[in-house]
Amino acid sequence: MTAVTLKGISKQFGRVSGVSGVNVEIGSGEFFTLLGPSGCGKTTTLRMIAGFYYPSEGRILFGEQDVTSLPPNKRNTGMVFQNYALFPHMTVFENIAFGLQTRKEPKVIIRDKVERALAQVHLETYGTRRIDQLSGGQQQRVALARALVIQPDLLLLDEPLSNLDAKLREETRYEIKRLQLELGVTTLYVTHDQAEAMSMSDRIMVMNGGTVQQIGTPQEIYNEPVNRFVSTFIGETNLWEGTVERIEGDDVYVRVSSAIVLLASATRKSPSCQLQVGAKLAATFRPESVQEVGTPQYDQAGAGSLVTGFIQVSEFTGISTQYLTFADSLPLRAMFVGVNHLLRERGDKVSFCIPKDSVYLLE
Ligand SMILES: Nc1ncnc2c1ncn2[C@@H]1O[C@H](COP(=O)(O)OP(=O)(O)OP(=O)(O)O)[C@@H](O)[C@H]1O
Ligand SMILES: [Mg+2]
Repeated sequence: MTAVTLKGISKQFGRVSGVSGVNVEIGSGEFFTLLGPSGCGKTTTLRMIAGFYYPSEGRILFGEQDVTSLPPNKRNTGMVFQNYALFPHMTVFENIAFGLQTRKEPKVIIRDKVERALAQVHLETYGTRRIDQLSGGQQQRVALARALVIQPDLLLLDEPLSNLDAKLREETRYEIKRLQLELGVTTLYVTHDQAEAMSMSDRIMVMNGGTVQQIGTPQEIYNEPVNRFVSTFIGETNLWEGTVERIEGDDVYVRVSSAIVLLASATRKSPSCQLQVGAKLAATFRPESVQEVGTPQYDQAGAGSLVTGFIQVSEFTGISTQYLTFADSLPLRAMFVGVNHLLRERGDKVSFCIPKDSVYLLE
């Protein structure tokens, strides 16, 4: 299994910048995800690592070896492409065997390896089917088997679940994670789905406009986003613009409207956020951190800001109830877990507490 280092990687397409200045070290056996909106440079980065694009700048290392000029077939990477790139006229077996045949492996070994790969993706009985006789989800699993069968040092997966329905997506998510842990193969995973990224990854690299925004564990990215883009792209967040009114020790008072001053902690802020009286910043907090005053869940001792909201929309999803409310004309999203939560209706007046420690300040 190989570690991967990207040193100042950029890719220019004529005058269009696909990716610029990516620096990262990916550990051996790590599940590392590239996450970001469409066009942010995920596929371009993956294709440079696989060797299909030559970077305009920078170096790529597998372990200690500089592979920047090594052709794709010398890198021992297994790749699942965004559009799978299977051969439609060939059978499932032939598709999976293709990489082994080009390596001139003996027939019996090929048969054995393909059968094992088919079992890994639960397609044991599909070997003789043609690709165009399979569903999108089955094709996606064939593409995965084809990537795994060569026993790659590095697995590169570009949106491998994009064509699956919600249920199969979740199942395949577990499958991929299980296989990855079992094989211990270093995996680079591309997705624009933040829930997928959060649930599968050891670390996530959030990208936007061809540049890296943040690299960190799912917890770091979620709880300590470095900027507004990361904060709003990952999960739901309330973001209120404000001005620092007062600082007393660890207590930071941020005025967010004529009636609301939000209490925040001086330690809960992004590195680029400067704390001084008069500074303009964004106060963010997650919907699930909001507490309803007067309910058993509400912790009196937890210091925070009390605000009154009027329910606009309430959504019951089964595991949670979500409210969109307005507090002094600021939109406030609140989420409560548990089926027993009191269902509120449009127009109801509710008192909320925004705990001090749940507020995160951004530049
Ligand atoms: N061959 C190419 N020629 C010119 N521009 C390209 C080429 N490939 C990608 N680009 C541009 O580079 C940028 C990054 O593209 P990339 O395919 O890496 O995005 P992505 O993050 O994979 O998006 P998606 O989620 O839609 O797949 C985009 O602006 C895209 O238009
Ligand atoms: Mg892409």
